[in-house]
Amino acid sequence: MKKRTLGTNGLEVSAIGLGCMGMSWSYGPAKDEQEMIALLRAAVERGVTFFDTAEVYGPLLNEELVGKALAPFRGEVVIATKFGMEPGPGDTDRWSRLSSRPEHIRKVVEGSLKRLKVDAIDLYYQHRVDPAVPIEDVAGAVKDLIAQGKVKHFGLSEAGAQTIRRAHAVQPVAALQSEYSLWWREPEEVLMPLLEELGIAFVPFSPLGKGFLTGKIDASTPFDSTDFRSTVPRFELENRKANQVMVDLLADFAARKGATPAQIALGWLLAKKPWIVPIPGTTKLHRLEENLGAADVVLTPEDMRSIEDASAAIAIAGARYSQAQENLVDR
Ligand SMILES: NC(=O)c1ccc[n+]([C@@H]2O[C@H](COP(=O)([O-])OP(=O)(O)OC[C@H]3O[C@@H](n4cnc5c(N)ncnc54)[C@H](OP(=O)(O)O)[C@@H]3O)[C@@H](O)[C@H]2O)c1
Repeated sequence: MKKRTLGTNGLEVSAIGLGCMGMSWSYGPAKDEQEMIALLRAAVERGVTFFDTAEVYGPLLNEELVGKALAPFRGEVVIATKFGMEPGPGDTDRWSRLSSRPEHIRKVVEGSLKRLKVDAIDLYYQHRVDPAVPIEDVAGAVKDLIAQGKVKHFGLSEAGAQTIRRAHAVQPVAALQSEYSLWWREPEEVLMPLLEELGIAFVPFSPLGKGFLTGKIDASTPFDSTDFRSTVPRFELENRKANQVMVDLLADFAARKGATPAQIALGWLLAKKPWIVPIPGTTKLHRLEENLGAADVVLTPEDMRSIEDASAAIAIAGARYSQAQENLVDR
């Protein structure tokens, strides 16, 4: 597996990471723990050294799973996790309140260290910007944790340009994790030039469009109430029908390259910049292997132009998030 570097302090990871969220949360009920442990270890065997989790996935369950599965590989793999959410009134399985007060960060880091079974968190992201706490205070709190040896690198998720710049001035940011894929290209406008300027890596989440870009989801795919996609406008029935044209485009292109649509979606991200490291999520070994195969897909500048020209001509139907979710995003 090829390697890439996050930020300027030498954090080296596999060019494709593994998003672990769906193993415990968000895409239906938690999957069988033993099967997921086997999958995580199979990923290590195949060269994956970058694993993505968060305190809120489960909540807590996903960190526990990742900690258990990767315990034999301590020091050989990079585990990224996230702080910054807590239960609001009435919350059980989905925490809705933002919480990045320095004392909160100092408290919850201990739980993440314990669940992940590590002495230091390799990459600690703020999950969402908390408008009630100056980002300098958040960056300062993480800087202190780095000085204490509890955290190695700092990251932000769905943060806006001003926030990134201010945070980076206090504690260098190794990576921004935000949504980016062929059907969500907004980060290209302002964020990516800034990341390039500051030497911050980009870790796109939902690089497969939450599964849609793979071609394995269509208008007949059911999403029950435990599946987050049942709340996403882009996944409403009529929008899925309208958005099929994007998948058809990827499928046509994939057939010409002898690849799959998922591999083209990931290959496009990898070819975009050498400091991009996508973290596709899957709960299935054959899909993990398919996704890792994207590292070998070669897309020429002409291929990139052709994919981008064709996809730019497609108007995607439906918002990527519900309004409540979008309100949590820093602009
Ligand atoms: N920072 C944030 O706020 C944030 C938000 C969302 C996600 N994330 C992180 O990013 C990771 C990835 O994002 P994501 O899970 O939302 O979306 P994604 O990676 O775009 O898509 C995951 C979905 O695609 C399916 N899938 C994966 N590979 C496939 C393939 N080759 N063929 C067909 N279907 C395939 C998976 O189903 P199966 O499991 O059935 O394969 C799953 O439903 C998450 O695991 C999480 O760690 C972070």
